[in-house]
Amino acid sequence: MTEVDIKKGLAGVVVDVTAISKVNPETNSLLYRGYPVQELAATQPFEAVAHLLWTGNLPTAAELAELRATERQHRALSPEVKAAIDILPTTAHPMDEVRTAVSVIGALDATGDVMDAAGTPEENQERAIRLWAQLPAIVAYGQRRRRGEELIAPRDDLDYSANFLWMTFGEEQHEIVVDAFNRSMTLYAEHSFNASTFTSRVIASTLSDLYSAVTGAIGALKGPLHGGANEAVLHIFDAIGSAENVTPWLDEALGAKRKIMGFGHRVYKRGDSRVPTMKAALDTLVTHYDRPEVAALYDALESEFVARKGIYPNLDYPSGPAYNLMGFDTLTFTPLFVAARVTGWTAHIMEQLASNALIRPLSEYVGPAERHIDGYVATD
Ligand code: CMC
Repeated sequence: MTEVDIKKGLAGVVVDVTAISKVNPETNSLLYRGYPVQELAATQPFEAVAHLLWTGNLPTAAELAELRATERQHRALSPEVKAAIDILPTTAHPMDEVRTAVSVIGALDATGDVMDAAGTPEENQERAIRLWAQLPAIVAYGQRRRRGEELIAPRDDLDYSANFLWMTFGEEQHEIVVDAFNRSMTLYAEHSFNASTFTSRVIASTLSDLYSAVTGAIGALKGPLHGGANEAVLHIFDAIGSAENVTPWLDEALGAKRKIMGFGHRVYKRGDSRVPTMKAALDTLVTHYDRPEVAALYDALESEFVARKGIYPNLDYPSGPAYNLMGFDTLTFTPLFVAARVTGWTAHIMEQLASNALIRPLSEYVGPAERHIDGYVATD
């Protein structure tokens, strides 16, 4: 026991200021640089949202064209990164694959001098754009490789989201699918001091490099209490099967005190601000693919769980089935989160460096009181 008031999990602790996003649990709102996320998701291409997160403003037409041109230049998977991925067994978890690929990209772009590792703001902005541009190829190739399929080259005539889907499936997708995917990227892009973003800021605060900070963030995102939940939601859907099985399945799961993935949030207690926008996108996909049973299971589990526990869905709840309908393998869901969140992480890394203080909290020691060796020798 301790006299100090410990905030386990840093719950409720404000550790720094940020101008990147604002989460307001009272009004269920999420603002990126002042703009409501649902307005951005409904009206903007993901490239414009990335620009907004990095620079603080939506791009002019010329700025958007320039960012798109740079993104296209760096879309193709480099031979070195492909070789590094190919060494891994196809049984490796895709998050380990993505984490390794980002680490390799960092090693290829090293300054060679640890004192310069953190880089200038201009260098970091360029690194952030290049890394963001490379991630779709890494994620798409990962899914194809696990299916025994070849790498697909990017298409210069397609924007970010349409090209991402092209590189994954080798077919142009319907505009409804591209739009739903684009919305998901925007909704996943940023969420203040969540576990992975905080991880990236801790690493950046040591004046390590941007790639190390993103690699660490990917490790944090992998866990099922964070990004891994979208993958876990599909396992739950598979286990339940159909709407009429919800009650017995919930009886068993709650009886065993298991957490229901895709529900609950550390900050939002009355509903995640991103869910209605992603649910609307899921509804368009359900209609497009004519899969009403997916909506029936979604609604049945949500209404019964909310009624029984008063805990609401988070973004991973609608995004899991949406990515499934689009044709993504369940194991690819969390890497998709990486491809989106890399924009938020890199914006936070640059913000951290702009007014850096080493992040080094204190702990309250609760181990043995001071004691001495007094001639101690190990014996059997
Ligand atoms: N299923 C069942 N019970 C839950 C759930 C859930 N999904 N979420 C919270 N609870 C219960 C929990 O068992 C606890 O009950 P009790 O007080 O009786 O022990 C109470 O609610 C408080 O839960 P907590 O885990 O202490 O609260 P937290 O603020 O740390 O929880 C959370 C946040 C996201 C870790 C948690 O809700 C959870 O584990 N959810 C499932 C995983 C998930 O969907 N994660 C994605 C989060 S959103 C996207 C992202 O940021 O990556």
